[in-house]
Amino acid sequence: MLDRYNRKINYLRISVTDRCNLRCNYCMPENDPCLLSHDDILTFEEIQQVVAVAVPLGIDKIRLTGGEPLVRRDIINLVSMISAVPGLKDLGMTTNGILLDKYAKRLSAAGLKRVNISLDTVNPEKFREITRGGDINKVFRGISAAKEAGLLPVKVNCVIDSSTGEEDAMAVGTYCRENDLDIRYIPKMDLETGKFGIVHGGTGGNCIQCNRLRLTSDGKVKPCLFSDLAFDIREFGIQEAIEQALLSKPEKGSINLSNLFHNIGG
Ligand code: 5AD
Ligand code: SF4
Repeated sequence: MLDRYNRKINYLRISVTDRCNLRCNYCMPENDPCLLSHDDILTFEEIQQVVAVAVPLGIDKIRLTGGEPLVRRDIINLVSMISAVPGLKDLGMTTNGILLDKYAKRLSAAGLKRVNISLDTVNPEKFREITRGGDINKVFRGISAAKEAGLLPVKVNCVIDSSTGEEDAMAVGTYCRENDLDIRYIPKMDLETGKFGIVHGGTGGNCIQCNRLRLTSDGKVKPCLFSDLAFDIREFGIQEAIEQALLSKPEKGSINLSNLFHNIGG
């Protein structure tokens, strides 16, 4: 699929839930995160149908995000249902890693290829502060489990305020080198003000080479993280929603006043 600016769109990020077992201060409001009702959340069948329609249109890479994808009940089944769609080359997941220790093996057996794990610091107290209560040891165990399960290469997403030279960012970098992990530094973004930046070591944040569409957990296809444009698959039908999103994909991001990170999946 080519968009109006001749960008080849082959990547779909699917948010499977807006819920999370952490409360990172840059992503989730502390109280009352204003969550979607269960009736609005796409069923596994609907998500699989989106994939089955998107792949013949040219999507060959899918990433499951959240919220935290591993808090969606029966997520292993969803991974199996998606990986069973013929023509898909890559199926990844972005996770905070808290539940990976428990799920890594089964995810791999269900057809998940690899994981990106969020880790902004290797300091346990700092981690607790940023995530408002998270236990970093669970993430460390999750990272080991992912490696053992062959979800490779394991990538670490490290959110930075402005520079990769920040103390926490450097320490995460060292940890990654010592543990054979790929690191991606993600500048902290703000949907409301349109502040975003290029992901170091990844492909995000660079509008010229953007290759992605997004599906929100309540079934809207979005052409751009930094835009309010959204096409509801239940209103337009799946193919039409994808095509509308493709045709309206903006040349570059601006602002998004309709979403928060926890319901669009970074
Ligand atoms: N800016 C940059 N990245 C963010 N994420 C969540 N909120 C933000 C933000 N404001 C990232 C997380 C995680 C992924 C799900 O999205 O760090 O890696
Ligand atoms: Fe949860 Fe990830 Fe958001 Fe943190 S950044 S609150 S782990 S979805």
